[in-house]
Amino acid sequence: LNPNQMEGNSSLLERANCRAKGGSPGFKVAILGAAGGIGQPLSMLMKMNPLVSVLHLYDVANTPGVTSDLSHMDTGAVVRGFLGPQQLENALTGMDLVIIPAGVPRKPGMTRDDLFNINAGIVKTLCEGIAKCCPKAIVNVISNPVNSTVPIAAEVFKKAGTYDPRTLLGVTMLDVVRANTFVAEVLGLDPREVDVPVVGGHAGVTILPLLSQIKPPCSFTSEEAAYLTSRIQNGGTEVVEAKAGAGSATLSMAYAAVKFADACLQGLRGDANVIRCAFVDSVVTELPFFASKVRLGRNGIEEVYALGPMNEFERTGLEMAKKELAASIEKGVSFAAK
Ligand code: NAD
Ligand code: LMR
Repeated sequence: LNPNQMEGNSSLLERANCRAKGGSPGFKVAILGAAGGIGQPLSMLMKMNPLVSVLHLYDVANTPGVTSDLSHMDTGAVVRGFLGPQQLENALTGMDLVIIPAGVPRKPGMTRDDLFNINAGIVKTLCEGIAKCCPKAIVNVISNPVNSTVPIAAEVFKKAGTYDPRTLLGVTMLDVVRANTFVAEVLGLDPREVDVPVVGGHAGVTILPLLSQIKPPCSFTSEEAAYLTSRIQNGGTEVVEAKAGAGSATLSMAYAAVKFADACLQGLRGDANVIRCAFVDSVVTELPFFASKVRLGRNGIEEVYALGPMNEFERTGLEMAKKELAASIEKGVSFAAK
């Protein structure tokens, strides 16, 4: 029997559940879109995460193969595969964390907003499932355009009466990962020692790196700041163009998604001082959603931090970011209201 057949075999399922309970601590994680370009490496990395006891892989295609393959890894997490909408509810029931990389990626010449027409409906349907089956789960939204799909998710949860702003997070971790890498390159540092907060949203000018708040403290010429800001804002496009029609960032995204998901699980476990950037329900600006540093804990987001001091270059960037973000948020909210 393989993990795709577990549903029908109660004794095997019981043993797997037992094993899942045996390890401590263990969280139950579902990945929706698990067979895709991001989904597959993300699923593999989560199978390797010692904080995960049960890993549910859901997609509308190819989950049996991915599940069978990953289930042979001798790590602790029990893997189960779910295929198609009729198995969505089983995939979601009992989950602590749901990660959503489902949806189409960009091709050269497209903006993330060009994905709205297809991905908005996908995210809406998946979130309706979450509201029904695991309303208390932490939700990590990766599907683009994040600036609109997170507001869509919030509206779906509000309609269902399950909305808790502490549990909904748009994943902007790849922007931070890129910022750390590109800045380290320019400064000749080890990227693992660099931490650049990136605020705003996850598309073009809404991606706002706060280089003035970098750790360790460093200063930049105005040319360096302009070059780095533009490279960080266009990092996604750089990959889309290099892949030349074969999709967008998948491997670096899976890495960033796991870094972020792991932080969410550390928070759930009760670790102190787990702070990451994410696109969340926010009052730090006049906009209803905004990416900034948040502290993660047992309830999801425990604290959303203010933006802190910015220089003039960053303040100008903030105004541009807010203008575009307002329109993307509104687009998501009106879609969900239909
Ligand atoms: P992909 O096409 O390789 O994979 C997407 C997967 O989603 C496929 O396996 C597909 O079958 C599945 N899918 C489609 N409809 C579904 C549904 N209704 N339910 C469940 N699964 C469904 O794409 P990818 O490269 O993995 O990218 C996925 C999404 O992530 C895209 O929207 C992309 O723009 C976005 N993305 C976001 C970030 C970020 O930083 N937030 C980074 C990279 C990519
Ligand atoms: C990224 O930043 O790599 C993703 O948002 C994918 C994309 O379309 O650029």
